[in-house]
Amino acid sequence: MMTNTYTLKYKFTKNIIPSIFYIFPPIALICLYFYSHSFAPFFTLITHYSPLPASTPTEIEKAYEKTCDYSIGKWVHDKREPLYNATTCSNIKQSLNCISNGRPNTTYQYWRWKPSECNLPMFKPNTFLNLIKNKQIAFVGDSLARNQIDSLICLLSTTSTPQGSQHKGSTKWYFPSHNANVSIYWSPFLVKGEQRKNKGPNYNTIFLDHVNEKWANDINEMDLVVLSFGHWFMVPSIYYEGDSVLGSHDLKFNYPKIGFYVPFRKALRTALNSIIDGRGNNSSKGNNGIDVIVTTYSPTHFEGDWDKGGTCSKSEPYENEEKKLEGMDDELRKIEFEEVENAKVKAKEFGGIRFEILDITKLALLRPDGHPGAYMNPFPFAKGVPKHVQNDCVHWCLPGPIDTWNEVFLETMKKWDQRSQKEK
Ligand SMILES: *[C@@H]1O[C@H](CO)[C@@H](O)[C@H](O)[C@H]1NC(C)=O
Ligand SMILES: *[C@@H]1O[C@H](CO)[C@@H](O)[C@H](O)[C@H]1NC(C)=O
Ligand SMILES: *[C@@H]1O[C@H](CO)[C@@H](O)[C@H](O)[C@H]1NC(C)=O
Ligand SMILES: *[C@@H]1O[C@H](CO)[C@@H](O)[C@H](O)[C@H]1NC(C)=O
Ligand SMILES: *[C@@H]1O[C@H](CO)[C@@H](O)[C@H](O)[C@H]1NC(C)=O
Repeated sequence: MMTNTYTLKYKFTKNIIPSIFYIFPPIALICLYFYSHSFAPFFTLITHYSPLPASTPTEIEKAYEKTCDYSIGKWVHDKREPLYNATTCSNIKQSLNCISNGRPNTTYQYWRWKPSECNLPMFKPNTFLNLIKNKQIAFVGDSLARNQIDSLICLLSTTSTPQGSQHKGSTKWYFPSHNANVSIYWSPFLVKGEQRKNKGPNYNTIFLDHVNEKWANDINEMDLVVLSFGHWFMVPSIYYEGDSVLGSHDLKFNYPKIGFYVPFRKALRTALNSIIDGRGNNSSKGNNGIDVIVTTYSPTHFEGDWDKGGTCSKSEPYENEEKKLEGMDDELRKIEFEEVENAKVKAKEFGGIRFEILDITKLALLRPDGHPGAYMNPFPFAKGVPKHVQNDCVHWCLPGPIDTWNEVFLETMKKWDQRSQKEK
């Protein structure tokens, strides 16, 4: 396994942090994974936004209502052990290996998501593997995509041992037992772009109308693609469209300030269109279609101690009503729903392309206790409490709440399979 790292600096702006921010030393740098061997970009996640009113379901969202809506529910205690642990799964990265890193409170592992309308079955690795038999599934996106696939690989490894391999910009796990391949492409914008770097421009350059060919060129080989992205759009960026600058975000250049919602939407649209273009009209994989899943935005949970960089020290989930889906989390999720709906309409004339949303934003929002926090590093307090503790309140411990995303993912695949069976 590669131990990739990228570095994230979580900054709060003047709006949120009073002048105290400027007196104290820079807040914590969070070393996250991905590509440390090639570069370690610093990026700043901006969290200031005007809070938007809490949403009621739109017509579009209603159209997604299934037999059971897995996105509405609550976390309940569950004594069962997780399916895997650091002993049984060697795929857990150190920065996500919270228990091995000495996290004392392990109660975050003993919660189960209970949708209001039904029960969410436990993940059944064999069922999943049977559904991807002779298939190739690919995750495309950022470190949250990576976090989800790492969980999936650990879950699947409990019944079948994969063979891992590296390719240019992608990692693949091959399950010989089912002739199935699960791979991940690093593409934090989905579209073409350069990430902000330590050396070089400290802003992203993003080409909103050009898909990132690294993954798009392989689209013909894929049976199922999972898109998961978003966090890198909050970094200062210059956006191009039609080979000229469309605008910028959080930069002092004399370009229109367009924020990140519009670029986020355009990037997703470009990615979905490229899948439709590549796979519409049965142009590939014989006449087999392609399934596309968009994992919704995963909220972060930095809180308190701003001057020390913010922590996520809660040891229990929020109650359902305690935390509303609002602001940026809500807005990005809505954009994802709208763009997937658009794509469905566009793809209708071709047939063979199915889209689904993996709506995890709310259930993830309720889990402030599931992040590595300081335990992204081994035994961070072994020598007393350091002056500045790095906290990861973005990614999820493994095992942890992100395993639930894959449980919902499996239910989506089962539903698709049942429909295909009916159509036969
Ligand atoms: C890991 O899981 C295995 C199998 O379920 C179990 O036997 C073992 O005790 C677990 N190890 C830890 C450290 O929890
Ligand atoms: C999966 O990858 C293996 C090894 O590269 C290859 O032999 C096999 O044909 C692939 N299977 C599918 C279904 O893509
Ligand atoms: C695509 O394939 C399906 C199933 O084989 C077929 O029903 C449909 O007519 C094809 N569409 C086009 C545009 O060729
Ligand atoms: C795909 O099929 C549609 C409708 O049959 C047609 O309008 C379109 O031009 C075709 N696209 C390609 C790339 O063949
Ligand atoms: C661990 O978290 C639980 C809540 O899930 C709390 O009741 C307990 O006091 C915590 N234990 C420690 C040692 O912090």
